[in-house]
Amino acid sequence: MLLKFPAETVPIQEIPTDYNIKLFIKREDLIHPQISGNKYWKLFYNVNNYLENHPESPYLITFGGAYSNHIAAVSAVGNLAGIPTLGLIRGEELANKWRDNPTLLFAKRNGMNLKFVSREEYRHKEKLTEFLQNEFPHALIIPEGGTNKEAVAGVKMMLNDQTKDFDYLCTAVGTGGTVSGIAEFCEENQKVIGFKVVDDASLENKILELTSMRNLNLIDSCFGGYGKIKDETIRFINDFKEKYGIPLEPVYTGKMMQKVFELIHEGYFPENSRVLCFHTGGLQGIEGANLLLEKQNRNLII
Ligand SMILES: Cc1ncc(COP(=O)(O)O)c(C=O)c1O
Repeated sequence: MLLKFPAETVPIQEIPTDYNIKLFIKREDLIHPQISGNKYWKLFYNVNNYLENHPESPYLITFGGAYSNHIAAVSAVGNLAGIPTLGLIRGEELANKWRDNPTLLFAKRNGMNLKFVSREEYRHKEKLTEFLQNEFPHALIIPEGGTNKEAVAGVKMMLNDQTKDFDYLCTAVGTGGTVSGIAEFCEENQKVIGFKVVDDASLENKILELTSMRNLNLIDSCFGGYGKIKDETIRFINDFKEKYGIPLEPVYTGKMMQKVFELIHEGYFPENSRVLCFHTGGLQGIEGANLLLEKQNRNLII
């Protein structure tokens, strides 16, 4: 088993608010230094089951954008296990610029072979997957963001006896695997809120394929669009770190927490609610975000 159940569970920390709400954050970002947050659990069964069945010539292939936390995590898995990895990266223009991108540099240093594909090709990932699976019949091809049924099963391990004690469970939503796992395996009386950071109309249907969604509410938390960073989000993330000592990144967890505070302020949660947010990691993305912000002469994430 390459990815193991950690001996200790990650801490759940209280975030004091000025309201009659009990707010907490579960630090899944601390689970592993390189395969952090939800990535660890989404890859858990995908990788472990595959490696158990393919002891000879294993090969991991996956997809992602220029700053993808998933690409970083899969490359780290490859490095840890000593197995080759291939990352299909969205955007041909990156072929000559990957050295300037901390995520792609990290993946390369982990031994990942990067292949840059046009946005049009990337849009037809199913075709690419079919082609690659024919080409490399023994390879494990992990979908974008690592989201599939195995990922959903792995997310179950983000829940434990302590998480049963909350009325609301909150997580950021990109490809939908994490929120599906939480909705699928939480207690019946718990409400799940997915904070959508991507404006994707097909997301709800994708989530419906992964979970019965019985107690799940999706809330728009795009703040200008996927990967777009507003000044107010930078301010929020920097204040949050200063006040509570907890780092957030600007694409997923920063936007989720910002929206959670907006909801608290608007009175969305009934008085005395116990609200738990999952810190899903992705802090490796801060460096790349800061490089872009610097070019735009804007404040950086501390
Ligand atoms: C840090 C972080 N949080 C949340 C998510 C959203 O997870 P999902 O794609 O399972 O919806 C991602 C994407 O995997 C992520 O990298």
